[in-house]
Amino acid sequence: MEILQTPAEMRTWREEHPGSLGLTPTMGYLHEGHLALAQRSVTENRFSAASIFVNPTQFGPDEDFQRYPRDEDRDLQLLRDLEIDVVYLPGLEEMYPKGYQTYVTVGELAQGLEGASRPVHFRGVATVVTKLLNVVRPDRAYFGKKDGQQLRVIRRLTQDLDLAVEIVACETVREKDGLAMSSRNAYLTVEQRRAATILSQALQAAETQFTAGARSAESLRRVVRTTVETEPLAELEYVSVAHSETLAEVEGEVGSEILLSLAARFGSVRLIDNVTLTEDT
Ligand code: PAF
Repeated sequence: MEILQTPAEMRTWREEHPGSLGLTPTMGYLHEGHLALAQRSVTENRFSAASIFVNPTQFGPDEDFQRYPRDEDRDLQLLRDLEIDVVYLPGLEEMYPKGYQTYVTVGELAQGLEGASRPVHFRGVATVVTKLLNVVRPDRAYFGKKDGQQLRVIRRLTQDLDLAVEIVACETVREKDGLAMSSRNAYLTVEQRRAATILSQALQAAETQFTAGARSAESLRRVVRTTVETEPLAELEYVSVAHSETLAEVEGEVGSEILLSLAARFGSVRLIDNVTLTEDT
């Protein structure tokens, strides 16, 4: 497995490996969710790349950039075990050299939900993903459905900027008790970790209602809210029932496909989760 640190090295590698290429972009501290993306890439492409870069521009000033968990040696070993061909591991100076001043912003899609409480987040994600796609030049790029809004923002930007890459969405990988895998789960205390299962339980409770025929957006939001409220350690930041493509919040009756999503805090740890509800679920 090759480990490359500069855009020039990465470009040269790509020129020398002209077969189909899959890219799994990550911020490291890999868990089974990331590994499922990388594994799928290995299955679907002649070559597979992964990137590891904790991207400062997608963190707000009061967020966890400094303390974001890192374990590069372990990450590289896990990728080696999957037989990933190349890891792109740029430093801060390679990604944002002195004088850097260009950003990619996506419109409405990036403004609600996560964007509402994290105003610079999607500008940072869109910028770094555009740069990664530009340097690595994959045919396919793999993203998890857990970051539901991120997935839609990235799809939008590749369409809008005519980028020749297929965005592949992979199912959220969950712990046995339902908690969605996330590098941020590492911040949770034992008590908070136990409490955090309430998030998937709340989404499931709403899904059960939907399957039983409930179609009022407000009643679905209420089921999530009241379930999360039973857990004293959880502080719900938002619950959203949104049109699955536009992410416009639904009032009244829901249509045939919606994204039900939430964010909640456990102390200073902020977690997100979502499910897509479709008529045939
Ligand atoms: O989902 C992530 O880990 C990050 O947002 C991404 C897509 C790697 C961009 O930094």
